[in-house]
Order: sequence, then C-alpha cells, then structure tokens
Amino acid sequence: MSETATAPDATYNAQKSMDEIVALCKRRGFVYPASEIYGGINGFWDYGPLGVQLKNNIRDSWWRAMVECPPIGPDGDPLQIVGLDSAIVQNPKAWVASGHVGGFNDPMADCKACKSRFRADHLLALELIFPESDQHFLICGIGEPEEIIEKNKKRIDKLSKGQAGQGFTLSGFNEYTKLNESGRSEFVCPECGEKGSLTEPREFNLMFETFVGAIRDDDAKAYLRPETAQGIFLNYKNVLDTMRVRVPFGVAQVGKAFRNEVTPRNFVFRSREFEQMEMEFFCHPDDAGQWKEYWKEKRMEWYRSLGLSADNLIFREHDKDELSHYAKDGYGTVDIEYKWPFTAPGYGELEGIAHRCDFDLNAHSKANNPDSNADLSYFDQELQVRLQNEGVEKDEIKRRSRYIPHVIEPAAGLTRATLAVICEAFTPTPERKGSKYILKFAPHLAPIKAGIYPLVNKDGLPEVAKKLYLDLRNKFTCEYDAKQAIGKRYARMDEIGTPYCFTVDSDTLSDNTVTVRERDTGEQSRIAIDEVERFLSEKIGR
Ligand code: GAP
Repeated sequence: MSETATAPDATYNAQKSMDEIVALCKRRGFVYPASEIYGGINGFWDYGPLGVQLKNNIRDSWWRAMVECPPIGPDGDPLQIVGLDSAIVQNPKAWVASGHVGGFNDPMADCKACKSRFRADHLLALELIFPESDQHFLICGIGEPEEIIEKNKKRIDKLSKGQAGQGFTLSGFNEYTKLNESGRSEFVCPECGEKGSLTEPREFNLMFETFVGAIRDDDAKAYLRPETAQGIFLNYKNVLDTMRVRVPFGVAQVGKAFRNEVTPRNFVFRSREFEQMEMEFFCHPDDAGQWKEYWKEKRMEWYRSLGLSADNLIFREHDKDELSHYAKDGYGTVDIEYKWPFTAPGYGELEGIAHRCDFDLNAHSKANNPDSNADLSYFDQELQVRLQNEGVEKDEIKRRSRYIPHVIEPAAGLTRATLAVICEAFTPTPERKGSKYILKFAPHLAPIKAGIYPLVNKDGLPEVAKKLYLDLRNKFTCEYDAKQAIGKRYARMDEIGTPYCFTVDSDTLSDNTVTVRERDTGEQSRIAIDEVERFLSEKIGR
C-alpha cells in the first residue's frame, strides 16, 4: 500500500498540456483522428502531411543509427546489423509457437451497467480512510489519484459527512483482485459511477484476427502481427545463410504492428495500429548481459540525439511480476521511460530493451522439428578455434561452440517516439507576438527545414526567392510562400517547427544578402544569398 502520489509537477503540466498538443497536431497537419468524417475509430490515427514527414525523419535516423551506420562495438569495429521488411501476416503457427496465441493477453474488466471496458491492471484502486468513524471505502479510476478524487468528489463528500480523510492508492491487478475478494468494499465504475458493477477481470487476447483466402473458417484464420520482432526470428536462418554475418549480429526492422488494446489512450501513445522499430541482436549466451548494458547506453544516446532532454528520460528495470512471456527468471527487461505530459512528474514507457534469451529461436525450432531443438542452433567457428588455441578439452569445445544464440532486443515505438519528440518540442510562447506555440524540433527532424519568402509579392522579389527555393529544395525540404504578411508566415513556421526562414527584400537586389530568421529566438541577421546552402548544411548537419 503506498501513500497517495505527490502532486503533479505543476510547471511541467502547465507548459505541456496534452489538450493543446493534440489540438496543435490537428490544426497544423501532424495527426488527425482516423475516419474523422465518420466520427472516428477508437485507437486509430492518421498522420498528416507534416506528421508523416516528421515520423519518416525519426525512422530514417533510427535506420541510419542501426543499419547504415551501426555503432562501434567493444572491439573497435562497427557492429554487423542488417535490415529486413517481413510480411505483416505470417503463418498462424508462428504465433502459436511464439506464445502470442496463448499468452499475449491483457486483463479486462467490464461495467455491467454502462458496458464500458477497462484494462484491469490500469485501474487504480484508491482507498479512502476516515479514522474518526473507522470507515474506509474504495473508488476506482484511471489517472492520477487527484483526478480520481476530483471525479468522485460528490460521492466522497456524501460519505465523509465532513470528516477529514486519508487517501491511499492500491494500484495493480493483484491488489485489485485481492481487494475484490476481501469484500471489504465495492468498486465504483470510473465511467458511470455505478457501485459494484465491474466484473472480475478476464483475460483478453490482443491479436487482431483475419482470414486468408475465400473461405472464412478456422483453417483460414490468421493474425495481424502484434510485434515486428517475430518476422526477424522467422528469417534468422535465411539471413545467416544468405548474408556474410556471424554471431554477434543484429537484424533490424521498421513496420506496422497491431494490438486490439483494451483501452487505447493518451493520443497516439497507446493505439491499436502503430509502428515499431525493433532490432534483434543475436549473441553468445555468456555475452548477453554485457550486450544488454551496451544497448541500454546506445539507445539512450539515440533518444538524446532526437533532442529529448536528459531530465525527461530515465531507465526503469522491470519488476519480477512484469516479466514478459519470453523472459526467463533472472533475465529482465529495462525500459527507457519519458516524462510525458500525462505522466509527469512520473514517467512512462518509450522503449523496452529485453533479454529474450533463446526463447523465440528455441520455440520456432521445436515447433518445426519437435524431436530436436538444434535446428536453429549456431556453430561458432571462431569460438571453436579460440578454445582450441587455449587448449580447452574437446568435449568442452563442442559443448560451448554450438548454441542457440541469446537475443538482446531494443524495441522502440516509432509512433510513440514521434509523440515524445512533439511533446518535447512543444513550447508555449505567451510573450511572443503571432505564434502561441513553437515546436522546437531538433533541426534534422523538422518536417520543413526552411521557409523561403519574398518580403512582398512584387518588385522582382518573388523571382529571386523562387530561384533560391528551387536551388535549396534539391537538398532540403523547403517551403516557398509569397502570400500574407511576413509576420504571419513566420508564425506559421514557428508552429510547425521550421528552424530557419530566409527572406528576400529590396536590399537583396542591390547587395545579394537575405534575412535569416531563427525560430527559437525570433532573431534576424543577414547573410549572402549564396551562403544559404552552406549555412543550412552546417545547422542541419548534412
Ligand atoms: N517485441 C517486443 C515488444 O513488442 P513492447 O514493449 O510490447 O515489446 C515495444 O513494444 C514498443 O512498441 C513499446 O516500448 C512502445 O514504444 C511501442 N508500443 C507497444 N504497444 C504500443 C501501442 N499500443 N501503441 C503505440 N506504441 C506501442
């Protein structure tokens, strides 16, 4: 039992309001609700013209850091990591072997009165105790304890009869079940407020089902992948046989994943269709612990390179009761967590770095060849030679140099990382004229790198600005715009996070210089028109 959480970090929340971020994303073409003209569909989002550009830039940064220019390993050489793009629908037997058909479940509770459905492990049971009358009762909700109290204020006032109370949170599935069983009190539905209307939690499989071919029977049943990772395990041997890679090596993949989440929430943070960026790093079982530490550091560095501040990022080791179905006891997962506006002052998951052991390769080996689990084992010739040179005994060499590799898996959400980048960049600017907000994206991620403007749409200025734009767009995503007052054009660029604007005015015609206007400070200076490309290259890092 833990005491009620401390008050949310008021400064952070005041600055980073999720409602304002969602509204800005819609208004400026980053993210729209899917099927909006039909009233939307819960848990699905469309990325607008600027959102897809931002998301692609984050994806490209990840692909470059993993596949095109992988990090330098402990031996001083770049790691071997290759790319893959596997099918979303695979043979359904693969999902049985991987444990997803049997074990990829969330506990779900329904309200019998209003038919709302909840993730039982997300429900927070808040116990209110009134010492004067020795009364205590439970209210149930989602969110911070303060929000739950606020929502249930009337009921609490009625029950307290003016007495001072103390609040304790009892979060989590286990406590929830325990309390329900104790019969000490009845839960109140967080949605409709009905007492005792929540059902016992039931397990609910998160995979979306579909049918392959014309006949819709059980034999035709297939699944939309709930993680990109399995496509990598299914192709492990193909990659090993066709590419010049040896253990340790990685296979990286970016793509859509689908989960029929019980309660999609917090904008794109938890949606039913999302994108993942996953890399499975195959290594010797004895080295897996060191590789996990290695990848923790590399992944944290990558998030910092996106402009996320160190104060907003933490590591969190999973508790024992959070272990995934593939994690053996003693081999854990560590999450990189971000301080989201809806979790502050706490943090929520951004990426998991798991030690998946040999669970998946083993499972697929056994499923395909039940008599032997050696099918996907790896013969490590280098290790064999090393052990021979060290004079190790023959049987010991044999035992140690054939093994099923262990896997360290940095599993990131592309759509979740995009949201983190937007939340970090979102900066209210009450003091600034024109724009209410700035999106302070790291320049290399900004959907548009530069706005190119004639000060006025006449007097020969558009021709010069247009030429500059046509030259620059070969290298940078730029926008040319000649309409509206210049202040309004700058304000729009601030709100979509464009780091630089270049303005051609009457002086340009005589001295070949343009105004550079910087997004974050609003400061203006002048540079030669033929220096613009070099200036942008330096600032954007290309
Ligand atoms: N292969 C391991 C795996 O899928 P996970 O922690 O379930 O692990 C990895 O997912 C990442 O994918 C998460 O850290 C998160 O960034 C993202 N993710 C998972 N479920 C999501 C959802 N419903 N909506 C958006 N992103 C999600």
